[in-house]
Amino acid sequence: MEKSLVIIKPDGVSKKVVGKIITYFENQDLNIEKLKMMKISRELACKHYNEHRDKDFFKQLLEYITSGNVAVMVISGYNAIKKIRDIMGPTDPKKAKAGTIRGDYGTDITVNVVHGSDSKESAAREIKLFFLNNS
Ligand code: CDP
Ligand code: MG
Repeated sequence: MEKSLVIIKPDGVSKKVVGKIITYFENQDLNIEKLKMMKISRELACKHYNEHRDKDFFKQLLEYITSGNVAVMVISGYNAIKKIRDIMGPTDPKKAKAGTIRGDYGTDITVNVVHGSDSKESAAREIKLFFLNNS
């Protein structure tokens, strides 16, 4: 059993596809363990995306991820981290196949609907960041 931190980003919430996106995961035998709606602060966004702080897209990424409500989840299941990344599709929606979340709902390489942890280490770090004190 693995856990992953998944975020339905502001474009997913404003397009009203939160329910549809959760269904992609549930249909692949994954479990929604935790779920909350929140607006990500600049401070939390900086911590979450710390690995990208020196990239040219960082400022744009911060603007986007803090621009509106998001749905944050802990999702568990067998091989959950890779499974979730496969269900999401590649970072750039233009390269994502139909049937993946980014292929079906993504706009561009920044505005790409979902986040999913990329490793066990990232998942542990991100779950701690978003569900402090296990709440
Ligand atoms: O989210 P993922 O792990 O697939 O991609 P990433 O390389 O870790 O990048 C994190 C996020 O930064 C992406 O999901 C995009 O929202 C954004 N990004 C961007 O705006 N421009 C890029 N060239 C690459 C990523
Ligand atoms: Mg990433």
